[in-house]
Amino acid sequence: MHNYLSTDKVAELISQDYSLLQVMSRFNIPLGVKEKSIDEVCRANNVDTETFLAVLNFIGNGCNHKYIAEPETLSLPSLMNYLRQAHSYFLDFSFPAIRRKLINAVGNGSDNESALLILQYYDTYVSEVREHFEYENAIVFPYIDSLINQSHTSFNIDTFSAQHDPAAKKLTELKNIIIRYYEAPAGSYALHDVLFDIFGCEEELKAHGLVEEHLLVPAVKLLERESAVHKEKTEKEGDDDEQSSTLSPREKDVIIGVVKGLTNKEIADKLCISLNTVLTHRRNIARKLEIHSPAGLTIYAIINGLVELKDVSL
Ligand SMILES: [Fe+2]
Ligand SMILES: [Fe+2]
Repeated sequence: MHNYLSTDKVAELISQDYSLLQVMSRFNIPLGVKEKSIDEVCRANNVDTETFLAVLNFIGNGCNHKYIAEPETLSLPSLMNYLRQAHSYFLDFSFPAIRRKLINAVGNGSDNESALLILQYYDTYVSEVREHFEYENAIVFPYIDSLINQSHTSFNIDTFSAQHDPAAKKLTELKNIIIRYYEAPAGSYALHDVLFDIFGCEEELKAHGLVEEHLLVPAVKLLERESAVHKEKTEKEGDDDEQSSTLSPREKDVIIGVVKGLTNKEIADKLCISLNTVLTHRRNIARKLEIHSPAGLTIYAIINGLVELKDVSL
């Protein structure tokens, strides 16, 4: 167990645990790190240091629950970049490499039924994982972006976490089928080699899913709570505005219409609003300013620079 710090030297920690290379590559941090610390390397590559450390400490300690970072320390854009990059890594690099090795180990299935079934099983598995990743790329991450930008959306992260499965089960099953039932000639290095890769990929997929469940989801829940509070506050402020003495831009437009001598109907037409809305605005103006007559409004409008004297109907 190790708790990495922002001051730790990157080169040293890779030597201690080479699996951390994967975390680096998925944060798009290149090698050639010289004697730089985690913080220096993160800053140089526009990666949020706290988020990098959170993933590093979680994965580097076997996804142990004790190493789950506090959600408020995480940067969701950095975490999403990491996860997107991991999706590309699995789909574009890891899965095709395993497929090539599988063919190399068991054949392409043209003369061997069990090899054909193994390949079909693998291909179905990969297309399921592709769907899983595409759902996250196309629905979940854009939803998080919209939360960050405070735009309205009806999605909820509970919908995601309720049905999220780590996508590694089938790979575990394939590995077990090969180990238990596939009879390869002794000394078949290729089969052992691909099994080794499947073990590695299975572990990485599990860790990937756990990062989503234990780092991403809590950070999104926190943001959802904050944005619900923000929404409530803005709505309340809107209500307060109704009650306050400050005039809204629309109410100022109505005053300008009144002091120019327009009728309520003419004001409604000019502002493209209904007559009823004009009447509501006029009631609110009277209440807010405690001025009820057009003459009083004229004085108010001139003093406050809403109109010039020459535009006023006296
Ligand atoms: Fe994912
Ligand atoms: Fe996932």
